[in-house]
Amino acid sequence: MAAPGAVRWGVAGCGWVARDFVLPALAAAGNCSVAALLDPDPAALRAASSGFPEAAAHAEPGPFLETPGLDAVYVATPNHRHAAVVEAAARAGKHVMCEKPMAATLADAEEMVDACRSAGVTYGTAFDQRFHAAHQRLRALISSGALGVVCSARVHYACWLPPGWAEDNWRADPQRAGGGAFMDLAPHGLDLVQYLLGEELRMVRCLAQRRVFDYPVEDGAALVGLTEGGVLVSQHVSYNTPEHYPRRTLEVSGTEALALASDTLGQTAGGRLDVIRAADGHRERVDIPPEEDRPPFLAQVEAFSAALRGDPEAFPFPAERDLHTMGLLATAMKDAHDFLERSVT
Ligand SMILES: NC(=O)c1ccc[n+]([C@@H]2O[C@H](COP(=O)([O-])OP(=O)(O)OC[C@H]3O[C@@H](n4cnc5c(N)ncnc54)[C@H](O)[C@@H]3O)[C@@H](O)[C@H]2O)c1
Repeated sequence: MAAPGAVRWGVAGCGWVARDFVLPALAAAGNCSVAALLDPDPAALRAASSGFPEAAAHAEPGPFLETPGLDAVYVATPNHRHAAVVEAAARAGKHVMCEKPMAATLADAEEMVDACRSAGVTYGTAFDQRFHAAHQRLRALISSGALGVVCSARVHYACWLPPGWAEDNWRADPQRAGGGAFMDLAPHGLDLVQYLLGEELRMVRCLAQRRVFDYPVEDGAALVGLTEGGVLVSQHVSYNTPEHYPRRTLEVSGTEALALASDTLGQTAGGRLDVIRAADGHRERVDIPPEEDRPPFLAQVEAFSAALRGDPEAFPFPAERDLHTMGLLATAMKDAHDFLERSVT
């Protein structure tokens, strides 16, 4: 039940992520309510509306943005539509939380941030991994020095995405998605390691492959990066890793201990975080009580809404930080694609 003063949200794009994660999070959050829904697809709009009969349902952005009392818009459209929706919301004076990647191109992401800045509204990218309890514990362990001098971070985040995965598989269309497995999955890992380590990546390089599927985007990529402080970061993302393989792991290695998270990457709570001591190899599970292990999307919308209601520390992630990550992604992906094109022709 939303408290008085709850942030009144509109959700633009009522597909998979909105239906399964964003809308349930907004419904469960004490400081949020769902005031409006937007989707040009009548079936998607109908399905989302059935759970929120009190929300105004629209196929057009104009009337959606005119919903009385609307405070903020959650943008969950395909990537190439983020920019137009974010800019329209900003012009209408609405705060914005936008799904990752920020946009299909860096130029679009920059325009989005400019639009929000000019309108004086708050912008946040929905990097839900920051809000997973195991990741928050891991960040605290790192900043307390429990791992010693951190030397490296490794992320494996992969899935299986055949050409017919969805009816309208925009993820396999370079124009609409902005890239393939790299564009879809690498933003999570790059943002997460910067969050965990408390420092920025200063360079990222990437190699991509089109190995299994014949769609025109990469189905796998390997990234390597270096942070300002000298931590080596590597990441493997893919659309070509079968479901039953281990494919959601995160490892941070320091001189005193190594932290290993499995099945924490993704949209849901849970998974496991272990710490292995350098001195004797002793391995211990980090106990995360159930009340702390909340769905990351829920913790995220609560935090962003709290920031909108006057507690900026609840969501301390400025748009500039996300633009920095987007810039790293754009440069690394261009190199990877150029190399891939040269090597297959
Ligand atoms: N954080 C995560 O873990 C996570 C998970 C999945 C998807 N995502 C991101 O969420 C976004 C949506 O992904 P999805 O899997 O839900 O896609 P989807 O295709 O399932 O849903 C997208 C919906 O947006 C609608 N749409 C298209 N253009 C629109 C417009 N101009 N205005 C309003 N609605 C519009 C479509 O009709 C569709 O219903 C993408 O940016 C994706 O990268 C994030």
